[in-house]
Amino acid sequence: MKGIILAGGSGTRLHPMTQATSKQLLPVYDKPMIYYPLSVLMLAGIRDIMVISTPADLPQFSRLMGDGARLGVNFTYAVQPKPEGLAQAFHIARDWLAGEACALALGDNMIFGDHLSLQLQEAAKRDDGASVFAYQVADPERYGVVTMDPHGRALDIVEKPANPASNWAVIGLYFYDKDVTEMAAAVKPSARGELEITDLNRMYMEAGKLHVQKLGRGCAWLDAGTPDSLMQAGTFVQTIQQRQGMLVGCPEEVAFRMGWIDAATLRDHARALGKTDLGRVMMAIAEGHR
Ligand code: DAU
Repeated sequence: MKGIILAGGSGTRLHPMTQATSKQLLPVYDKPMIYYPLSVLMLAGIRDIMVISTPADLPQFSRLMGDGARLGVNFTYAVQPKPEGLAQAFHIARDWLAGEACALALGDNMIFGDHLSLQLQEAAKRDDGASVFAYQVADPERYGVVTMDPHGRALDIVEKPANPASNWAVIGLYFYDKDVTEMAAAVKPSARGELEITDLNRMYMEAGKLHVQKLGRGCAWLDAGTPDSLMQAGTFVQTIQQRQGMLVGCPEEVAFRMGWIDAATLRDHARALGKTDLGRVMMAIAEGHR
C-alpha cells in the first residue's frame, strides 16, 4: 500500500501566519505539523509516500523531508495547482499509484491513541473496499458525518450536514483498495465546486465496501486549522511529551521502531538536533532507555 499526504490549500483561517508559508509546515509544539500525519502513515507500515502541495509550498516540503532515505522510506512530491478537493489527490497520483491500494492523510489532522498502530495496520491490510475512522465530536456540522446501524455498518455519509444525523465525524485519514483511482475518476464536483472525499466514500458505501472503525475515548483527534486549534494541538503534544518523557509524531522514532533504521542512524539524527529536548529523547530511545 502507498500513502498520500495532502498538504495544500491556502490556510486562510490562519492568515497572516500562512501568507508566506504552508499551514502544514507550522510548528505543532516542537515539530512541523506534517510530521504528525507522516508518523501515522509510517505506523500503518507505509513506506512509499507522496506529498501533494501548492506550487509555492512544495519546494519547502522537499527541503524539509528530502527523499526519505534517512528514514528508510521513499518520498515523492507532486503539485496541486489549485485546491479543487481532497479526492483530486487520486487524479494527481494516478500514474505514481499504478493501480496500487492507497491511504490518504490530511496534512493538518493529528491522531494519537492507545493501540492506534494496530488499528492502522489492520486498515492497511484490508484489501477490499475502503476504511475510514469515526470520532465523536461536539460540532459534527464542521465535518464529514457518518451514521451507522447498531453493528457499526455505515448507513449514510454526508459532508458538513446542516442537521447532522449523528455526532460521528469522519477523520482525515482514509484507506482505499486498488480500485481507488478508478472510483475517484467518477467523482463529480460538488455544489461548492470540489471533488469531495465524502462522495468517494459514499460510492464505496453504496457498493457495500465502506468499513467504519470507531475511535474511542482513548484516542485524541485534532485538526489545526485555526489559531485556537493550532495552539490546543501544540499544548496537547507538549503535555504528553513532558509528562511521559515520550515523543508524539516523531518520524525518526517510528522509523526506528518499525525496524527501518538502526540505533546508530537514530543516534545520528538525535545528534543533528543538537541540544534540543527532541534530540535528547531521541538519543534515549536509540540507547534503549525509552
Ligand atoms: O478534518 C476532517 C475533515 O476534512 C473531514 O471530516 C471532511 O469530510 C473533509 O471534507 C475535510 O473537511 P475540511 O473542511 O477540513 O476540508 P478542507 O477543505 O479544510 O481541507 C482539509 C485539508 O486539506 C486542508 O489542510 C487543506 C488541504 N486541502 C484541501 C483541499 C480542498 C488540499 O491540500 N487540497 C484541496 O484541494
